[in-house]
Amino acid sequence: MTAHPTLRPEPKPGILGITPYKPGKATAEGVAHPVKLSGNENILGCSPMAREAYVGAVGELNVYPDGRGTTLRNAIAERYRIEPERLVLGCGTDEILHLINQTFLEPGDNIVQGQYAFGAYGIGARACQAEVRSAAEPNYRLDVDLILELVDERTKLVFVTNPANPTGTFNTEAELVRLHQGLPPNVVLVIDAAYAEFCTDPTFTDGLDLARDAENIIVTHTFSKLHGLAALRVGWAYAPGPIADAIDRIRPPFNVSIPALEAAVAALADTEFQAKSLAHIEQWRPWLSQQLGGLGLNVTPSGANFILVEFPKTPGKTAAEAEVFLARHGLIVRGVANYGLPGHLRITLGLEEHNRALVAALAEFLAAR
Ligand SMILES: Cc1ncc(COP(=O)(O)O)c(C=O)c1O
Repeated sequence: MTAHPTLRPEPKPGILGITPYKPGKATAEGVAHPVKLSGNENILGCSPMAREAYVGAVGELNVYPDGRGTTLRNAIAERYRIEPERLVLGCGTDEILHLINQTFLEPGDNIVQGQYAFGAYGIGARACQAEVRSAAEPNYRLDVDLILELVDERTKLVFVTNPANPTGTFNTEAELVRLHQGLPPNVVLVIDAAYAEFCTDPTFTDGLDLARDAENIIVTHTFSKLHGLAALRVGWAYAPGPIADAIDRIRPPFNVSIPALEAAVAALADTEFQAKSLAHIEQWRPWLSQQLGGLGLNVTPSGANFILVEFPKTPGKTAAEAEVFLARHGLIVRGVANYGLPGHLRITLGLEEHNRALVAALAEFLAAR
């Protein structure tokens, strides 16, 4: 082999320009057991039935899972009354979002999303050398018309999060219908419904009904939030048959592990845990929003298991300083400057004692001179 001292491996163009996804912090300096309210996880844990199923899978660690995840596929299909062959299972929604980008995007194509869109969409698109177009979100809410304005002949995917992360806001069924109707038929509307189970507003939809008869809608769901199985990484997509078939061609064959598949099946059957999780959010979301509003903070109305809170710009009272103050009090919340929201914090709803501690700590923070 001739030596080529000037040649070295180079990632393809654009990769090194990608800002990596920043997960919520999990530690607080000097605090032994902080409360993590930065990851939008299920504060109640997970279904006891799921845990039992996970432990029960310990005897199968030497074998590969069923690559089609047939049992889980059928359980999801039955529960949501959708066709099992139109489902794609993934190692979390995260993997599915990457697979969707890889399936559709060529260099020079573009995706359209909201200004505060969940970071994973853009990362996956940039990895495909596609352009990321972000429409302004007045009042922290996706605006259908502003999204449609950015769509052109190179647009392949439009991403909507419903309810959205990190804002917590949601779009109505009528708005999603209008968005879908405004898109050319070759553009895929991806509706990420990670937090959908927490939104009980009658005008809301997770998009499954819209997707049923459409040839260009994909809806994604996750077991990480309502079901509390974030550690196991299980997500799914409901897609038109030809799209599910295309995505499946590049899906890693054994992408959902046996313990994850079995726990997810059990979680889906545990309607008691699901109801308890939703009731917890419905009890504490209005309470925390009201309490923080009472302290003079702006809280964006949320349909998810977290709230977005705006802090004053006054030195000493800012979001960044509140984040540090709360961490010192053992409460880890999420700074969202990387989403273009330096004046806000995103706070996952905690247990009663966490929520009360949070209000007390913020009252102290805001009162301090
Ligand atoms: C909007 C949104 N989509 C997708 C995900 C990823 O979900 P999963 O845990 O299934 O990968 C998250 C996780 O926080 C999210 O907030």
